[in-house]
Amino acid sequence: MMKQIETEVVAVDAESPEAAVIRRAADLMRRGEVVVFPTETVYGLGADALQPAALEKIFVAKGRPLSDPLIVHIAEYSTLEELTTAIPEEARQLARVFWPGPLTLLLPRGPRVPRIVTAGMETVAIRMPSHPVAQALIRELGSPIAAPSANRFMHVSPTTADHTLADLCGRVPLILDGGPCPVGVESTILDLSAEVPIILRPGGVSLEQLRTVLPTVQVPRGREARSEEQAQRAPGQLPTHYAPAIPLLLFDGSEEAMRVAMLEELQRRTQRGERAGVLVADSDLAAFQESKALVFALGDAAQPAQVAASLFAGLRALEEANVQIILCRNFTEHGLGLAVRDRLKRAAGGKVIQV
Ligand code: TXA
Ligand code: MG
Repeated sequence: MMKQIETEVVAVDAESPEAAVIRRAADLMRRGEVVVFPTETVYGLGADALQPAALEKIFVAKGRPLSDPLIVHIAEYSTLEELTTAIPEEARQLARVFWPGPLTLLLPRGPRVPRIVTAGMETVAIRMPSHPVAQALIRELGSPIAAPSANRFMHVSPTTADHTLADLCGRVPLILDGGPCPVGVESTILDLSAEVPIILRPGGVSLEQLRTVLPTVQVPRGREARSEEQAQRAPGQLPTHYAPAIPLLLFDGSEEAMRVAMLEELQRRTQRGERAGVLVADSDLAAFQESKALVFALGDAAQPAQVAASLFAGLRALEEANVQIILCRNFTEHGLGLAVRDRLKRAAGGKVIQV
């Protein structure tokens, strides 16, 4: 059990963050504290990336094992040189196009990066967030910020200050509330050290977007059945990393087939007296109107960015409503849909029900 501390939630303007709020957060970080702040993807639990004692507090607050490395967030391209030993041309090209934004690059670790950041690995994960609050905080601190998602270990990433308060109240001194995160899924993690660039985690920058710059980018198939060696590459990417506290059944097939199968399963569950929650698209709502389930619509299925933005809020809403089982439909793999499918499959423990 860690000692409980008082958690303060302070509102911050997401577009033009108040200087006084940013100064206060940066002062805390300078003194070796952790601060929760919004990024365009999800909320981050940040500490000064160059202070090992502060970084330790991240792991304690999250309950995260030290074997799981952190992403370092920067605000200037020049910081990249200070954190790595070599920057491949591909990395420069990608950074030019996608930074600031939801793309994380694995690069050779420079000697200034504390061991605790990389969990002893030879690469360091770096990204330049586009969120004005994240940028202002890094600039004001004058140091890069290491930050994982601001949730308890193994829980769904937070996309609002309320989500992070639910997970970290009493464990962090300050949460900056900048409203909902616009992207809603974590950054894309790209490994450039292999023969071909490999997406270790699909995220806020889509495969299609990456291929406009690097046509050879690959997503490993069957990522959930990972070898030990791969597991070492992205230690946090366990099959159930994003699992909600409640079992989730993921259905995949045509829109009609998914609806029919989910309604049947729902009927079986409710007959047994189970409280079920359902995650669907807006266009499915009518079909579930009569059901006794708690229904959460994730948006227009044809617009995966909409679904991505509401996905984690949907999972958390059903969790908080104390349903015993979640039934969820699958979505397209285009654009941010690939990240949505990945998170849903993890939430389902790696199992997809084909209908
Ligand atoms: O959008 C995001 O990436 C958010 C925001 C806060 O920036 N951050 C985030 O951090 O999702 P986290 O720690 O929850 O997920 C980062 C993943 C972890 O699974 C970790 O294992 C992996 O990145 N990772 C970090 N450094 C790595 C490295 N050097 N090699 C391989 N995987 C790494
Ligand atoms: Mg995380």
